[in-house]
Amino acid sequence: MTTGMLRDDALKGKTIIITGGGTGLGKAMTKYFLQLGANCVITSRKLDVLQKTADELEAETGGKCLALQCDVRLYHEVERMVNDAIATFGKVDVLLNNAAGNFISPTERLSAGAFKAIIGIVLEGSVNCTLALGKHWIANKETNKVVLNIVTTYAWTGSPYVVPSATAKAGVLAMTRSLAVEWAKYGIRMNAIAPGPFPTKGAWDRLVPGDLQEKFDLKNRVPLKRVGEHQELANLAAYLVSDFSGYVNGDVITIDGGEWLNGAGEFSMFEAVSESQWDDIEKMVRGAKSE
Ligand code: HXC
Ligand code: NAP
Repeated sequence: MTTGMLRDDALKGKTIIITGGGTGLGKAMTKYFLQLGANCVITSRKLDVLQKTADELEAETGGKCLALQCDVRLYHEVERMVNDAIATFGKVDVLLNNAAGNFISPTERLSAGAFKAIIGIVLEGSVNCTLALGKHWIANKETNKVVLNIVTTYAWTGSPYVVPSATAKAGVLAMTRSLAVEWAKYGIRMNAIAPGPFPTKGAWDRLVPGDLQEKFDLKNRVPLKRVGEHQELANLAAYLVSDFSGYVNGDVITIDGGEWLNGAGEFSMFEAVSESQWDDIEKMVRGAKSE
């Protein structure tokens, strides 16, 4: 479905911080949150990109979208960003840890600095934002708060050629499950979404650059034989940050058309067998006799 799922005012009165909200999937989720009545704060390193997105989404939705520059790797910048968000909207209800860095590479070609760059954005960035907001909510006894983390399916399977990202996303998933239990008593829920392939410029330029997009067409790995629509992800995210999901805590929801299980299944390659080949196979299998 490429239309919105929730009723118009489903997020009315909520303030949502979306890291990496100026581009790609973060932008798509922000747009839907605004349509559902939330106030949004989008944050990343490039203020010009953020401001352009905020202006565009405000004009399109009529909602309020504040652009704040912040490198999530730096705790003091995160604290400042959170304070500015609170100064504008009075409170923050939801943190969406969506910012990421990634690129495809054989691991032995990577420097320690390359690992640090990705782990810094994905793992330390998610930790910094979660810690800053968690401390604030707990100290001020604010309840009914949500942290939603965007991971990947290789957070639990691992994946070659994106090892810094896999390592970092696995850490984010562990944080999700750990704090879902530890911070539930403070009225903070924490969940994750693991998307399969949802084409964005940021991801595709770094993961399947140039003609690799045709060579390794990612939809071919997906049993549903298509990539995800941004609105499909936005619908799931909106549900998970809304009060409708009030009893969902500590889970990771996969939205990948069955992709990762297809890769994991022992006999998934039999998808390529034709009907007539199945006739031959059946004859052979039925004809098998134990000695
Ligand atoms: C090897 C590389 C490299 C490459 C950078 N480095 N690119 N090494 N191959 N292609 C090394 C550099 O040499 C440097 O190490 C270190 O990484 C940091 O590089 P910088 O350019 O200084 O980093 P920075 O400016 O902080 O940029 C971070 C970035 C960049 C990750 C490298 O790509 C970025 O800004 N990305 C943000 C957006 C993004 O990545 N979006 C995609 C998310 S997709 P040295 O040792 O020389 O200092 C995603 C989806 C997954 O996560 C699932 C899909 C299905
Ligand atoms: P994207 O458009 O490149 O988004 C990444 C965002 O992170 C950018 O807006 C970037 O903005 C921000 N960012 C990077 N470094 C940052 C830092 N140090 N501080 C603050 N913000 C920073 O890619 P995307 O595809 O939409 O990815 C969004 C999320 O979905 C990521 O978590 C990704 O891992 C996940 N995901 C995507 C897919 C997919 O198929 N697209 C699949 C699975 C998971 P600046 O450059 O301005 O900082």
